[in-house]
Amino acid sequence: MHMINNLPQSYRSVARLALSLLCETLNGYTRETPYRRCKPPNFDIDATTGFLPSQPLPKLPETFDCWETALSEAPFQVRLGADEDEEALDYRSSSAAWRANIRKVSEYFICEVPPMKLTTCQWSVIDIAPLRNDRRMLQRSHLVLAFLVHYFVHSTPPDENGDPIVVPRSLAVPLVEISQILEMAPVLTFADTVLWNWTTINPDLPVSAENIRFLNLLSGTDDEHNFYLVSARAELRGAEILRIIEDYNGIRDTGELTSISKISKDLARLAEIIAEMTEIVNSVRNVVDPHVFYFAVRPWWKGSDGDGPSSPGWIFEGVPDQDKLDLSGPSAGQSSVMHALDIFLDIDHKLEKRRFPAPSENNKKADGSFMERMRRYMPGKHRDYLENLSASSRPLRELAQRTPAVREPYNLAVKALKKFRDEHIKIACLYVVTMSRSAPLTCPVGAMMMKMERGGGGGPARGTGGNELSTLLKAGRDATARAMLEERNWGPGKSWIK
Ligand code: HEM
Repeated sequence: MHMINNLPQSYRSVARLALSLLCETLNGYTRETPYRRCKPPNFDIDATTGFLPSQPLPKLPETFDCWETALSEAPFQVRLGADEDEEALDYRSSSAAWRANIRKVSEYFICEVPPMKLTTCQWSVIDIAPLRNDRRMLQRSHLVLAFLVHYFVHSTPPDENGDPIVVPRSLAVPLVEISQILEMAPVLTFADTVLWNWTTINPDLPVSAENIRFLNLLSGTDDEHNFYLVSARAELRGAEILRIIEDYNGIRDTGELTSISKISKDLARLAEIIAEMTEIVNSVRNVVDPHVFYFAVRPWWKGSDGDGPSSPGWIFEGVPDQDKLDLSGPSAGQSSVMHALDIFLDIDHKLEKRRFPAPSENNKKADGSFMERMRRYMPGKHRDYLENLSASSRPLRELAQRTPAVREPYNLAVKALKKFRDEHIKIACLYVVTMSRSAPLTCPVGAMMMKMERGGGGGPARGTGGNELSTLLKAGRDATARAMLEERNWGPGKSWIK
């Protein structure tokens, strides 16, 4: 499927059709069901934990001690470079030493690893060959290097001249190589911060939101931990969504009465799960403080374009074709569960389909390709799963359109997703938009961060990739609403798009 992604846009649908026909022939399946048999053997999805691995990732082998050591030391040595409060200033020299250590390529250093074990660290461009055939190790090394890159970049005090930040080759080169194998962006992603960043509290108990804790926290705050936990809770809830989608695509004949009854029941259940996810997202209000989130946590996540057009950008030393790198940083917009839902329910973020009511001027101004771009930050196998789902020859919305018994539960599910996005907008507003305007000016961190966020001259709050935030999120919400069927009920004043 990835090979298909590499083809020019105009060839992709032809290639997908050819693949689908080939599978039909090979499997002797009816025209309706190429999806299931053609499923590649492994999308790296677990029946219980969904896109999270079923077990915590192991640490890297000894050859890569330098990376693991730098990561475990960073919380004790490194603080935000833009933070000018007294405590952070005290860390300026240890932060600088931590970065200098990484920059000194090909020299030997003695690193003290607790508990007092001495390790020789060679900060060279370490050959990643020993990791190549072990997916879990590759994932761990992506996590470690991506965290190191963000520690490195954001512990550097802001450059007065606005020059780009140089990410040293000892991090940049292996991170890009590993990302190429995993087919994902060489930067901190949702997978690094949430999917792969945990261990079990009690290894004898099953993996669940109650039995995991997060290992790497850039800010070291409980708020960051809780944010990851809420995201993981939503992600784990998503495992049941994947089962419903899988069941739908596995039904042999959607015309049968029993099939229609199962689809309707599953869609009603889907609406309930989405409602639970809305509750989960809303639960951040109890466990994540907006100030801490905005001023202490979020600055660490910024990618090379986090400040919009005025971003100084990053240079990945020793890496060719820099301009082709995706370096926007993590976002829950990279959650494959949400994309799976969008595909299943046929949400048209790119405004390519004729739907009612027509998009507003603001909707048209939003970055319609945001969600598609976020897929490049997912592990390739998860993206393949989504591609496979998009290629399903049995679009649910079309079935709902021609089958009254499916239409209502379909609409319920869409409505629940619209409600999710409504509530999510309120949260983004509280945690990002409001905070960007209400920085506590007495606090030097706040003042400095506000300056950074606004590029010194005011401007809209931005999301991952420097997008104008509220326009983006509202466009996603409105695109969701437009998937609703039964247009005949939408007279003047009846549209439920706000
Ligand atoms: C404090 C809590 C949260 C805040 C402040 C927040 C903020 C944001 C922001 C600013 C964006 C815009 C794109 C970006 O910058 O990445 C975004 C996108 C997104 N967030 Fe959140 N988010 C929060 C929690 C969550 C959680 C727990 C989920 C769980 C699934 C989630 C799901 C999404 C999705 C799917 C998108 C893509 C846009 C969309 O689908 O509407 N967010 N979020």
